[in-house]
Amino acid sequence: MNERLVIQPHRHADRTPAIPTFAEYQRLYRLSLDAPDHFWAQRAEQLTWFHRWHTVFDSDYEETDMGWFLGGRLNACYNCVDRHLNQRGDQTAVIWAQDEPGQYQRITYRQLKHHVARVANVLREHGVRKGDRVIVYLPMIPELIYTMLACARIGAVHSVVFGGFSSEAIRDRILDCGARLVVTANEGLRGGRRLPLKEAVDRAVDGLDQVATVLVVRRTDLEPPMRPGRDWWLDEECHKQRSTCSIEWMGAEDPLFILYTSGSTGKPKGVLHTTGGYLVFASYSHQVVFDYRDGDIYFCAADCGWITGHSYIVYGPLANGATTVLFESTPVFPDAGRYWQIVDDLQVNIFYTAPTAIRALVRAGDEYLARSSRESLRTLGTVGEPINPDTWLWYYDKVGRGRCNVVDTWWQTETGGILIAPLPGVTPMKPGSATLPFFGVRPLLVDDDGRELDGPAAGNLCLRHSWPGQARTIHGAHHRFHETYFSRFPGLYFTGDGCRRDEDGYYWITGRVDDVINVAGHRLGTAEIESALVAHEAVTEAAVVGFPHEIKGQGIFAYVILDRHYEATDAHELQGLLKEQVRHVIGPIATPDAILVAPGLPKTRSGKIMRRILRQIAAGEYRDLGDVTTLAEPDVVETLVESHRTLSAAARQD
Ligand code: WTA
Repeated sequence: MNERLVIQPHRHADRTPAIPTFAEYQRLYRLSLDAPDHFWAQRAEQLTWFHRWHTVFDSDYEETDMGWFLGGRLNACYNCVDRHLNQRGDQTAVIWAQDEPGQYQRITYRQLKHHVARVANVLREHGVRKGDRVIVYLPMIPELIYTMLACARIGAVHSVVFGGFSSEAIRDRILDCGARLVVTANEGLRGGRRLPLKEAVDRAVDGLDQVATVLVVRRTDLEPPMRPGRDWWLDEECHKQRSTCSIEWMGAEDPLFILYTSGSTGKPKGVLHTTGGYLVFASYSHQVVFDYRDGDIYFCAADCGWITGHSYIVYGPLANGATTVLFESTPVFPDAGRYWQIVDDLQVNIFYTAPTAIRALVRAGDEYLARSSRESLRTLGTVGEPINPDTWLWYYDKVGRGRCNVVDTWWQTETGGILIAPLPGVTPMKPGSATLPFFGVRPLLVDDDGRELDGPAAGNLCLRHSWPGQARTIHGAHHRFHETYFSRFPGLYFTGDGCRRDEDGYYWITGRVDDVINVAGHRLGTAEIESALVAHEAVTEAAVVGFPHEIKGQGIFAYVILDRHYEATDAHELQGLLKEQVRHVIGPIATPDAILVAPGLPKTRSGKIMRRILRQIAAGEYRDLGDVTTLAEPDVVETLVESHRTLSAAARQD
């Protein structure tokens, strides 16, 4: 693949992009760095404020304390809903694409307002007040958006938990953030399968007195057991409420939501975003990076359990008065043509998904494209993992028929919004590169000793200066926030990603350089999976690494050492047990792809596991394992290689 390939941006008839030329991008970019206060104040004026800020940005570096739009008051729900009612009350705000193909439900801004107000009143009725945390464990149904916005309306802090997490993971999050109320559904529907959400919540809150209320959305006809005094049907509760609800005007730095994400060490961290800066950044980046215009139909196929859903299904698009598609199903239900059917049915102009989904569709074959024209598409986005150039080109050539701009957007839960991406119609594209920084963003590469690298180079991706969408802390663990992001390279925010910059200043993200793995666009900490494994009586030690996976980007490879006293069961059965163990503790998304029972792990004499060697063996790269003579037990490597060979051979036969 020729990495020098440059694809010129496409201009679409009758439209000049919001940023009209590349030179204008460069000018504005410089301005955004030289005069950030001026630049961001202008962007913030696009939102509606109850009270204007007195200071655009202030920070106390020692305390890792960043503040944007200080003194300002606003409400995220008001900005996403109420302020649109005069102009676009009858415009569709949300199109819900249901699991069942061809089934759509349209919700106008006016209807959205009424639904949100009712849910907000229900929350208040059940004692939720400003600053309280609410756990949301819902499938991709309109009530998910209603609940997020209802929390924002009354100043409660939502924490959405992705449906692929287990009861234990829900419970951990409830405890960590101190939630007293949980919103869930009786069941979810996905790809024709029923997901027992209420059952999972029941297990999560069992014996937890802290949770006083569980609100249950009726998605199917299932009647789950309802505990009197604790469990309430949301629809019945809503019927009792009015469709208006007063707004809680929030300080710009008041929390908007907490979203848990995995890091190198320990349990997932509750990344906290505040109201003003986040909303300015999510809405402005949504407008510019997708070249969103009034009247566009915008479809982001992510899940609201992740940051992409927060910023680019809910807050960004709705703050911009967009029509946003909420997709309940999967890209392959009933077959690999599903996205394209939706694109044609709804005349989607902007489509945003993850490389893992695109790779699965490439593999399914081009025939699934033949049934749709996809003529309405103008911008195609990708996010979540590095996209390999071949996949990029398929997206561009086949899906976009060579007429759409592809925006490869790099960002993180912690960044709140997109930080590196081309601007459609403006930035020349290079397949596989996220291209150039967004306004106000100063990426830099440093070597392992923290020395800044100039010009074309490869290193650790860091960011200098703050931007409005930056996470402000980790809920309840501010020291961990500082430790995780600001201590490795003092004075800089460290992203955890490796990156290369080419001779044109384009950024090429190479993947995580820490112990986080990215499986099908889902971020998982290897330490979390290891502790789930050692929680099983059979396992005394575990080491988990990522390995290249054709569809998922990375797969999960676990090395386990068994307890001497454990009565060896059949290898197959043991694997099943351990996979089940991880599903139980974290959830199905963390299920290991392969488990190897190891006699020992390669460790240095000081006891540190040599993960590099484990990664290479898991990838089947047995040659060039480097110098292993410094290991405490060099022979272990040979044994691991042999076991891996046997395991791979067995997997091929399966
Ligand atoms: C990876 C998702 C390459 C990266 C929004 C980052 C990417 C992690 C890209 C954050 C991209 C995200 N190219 N890698 N365009 N976008 N990543 O927090 O490793 O779920 O650190 O946020 O995904 O994942 P998170």
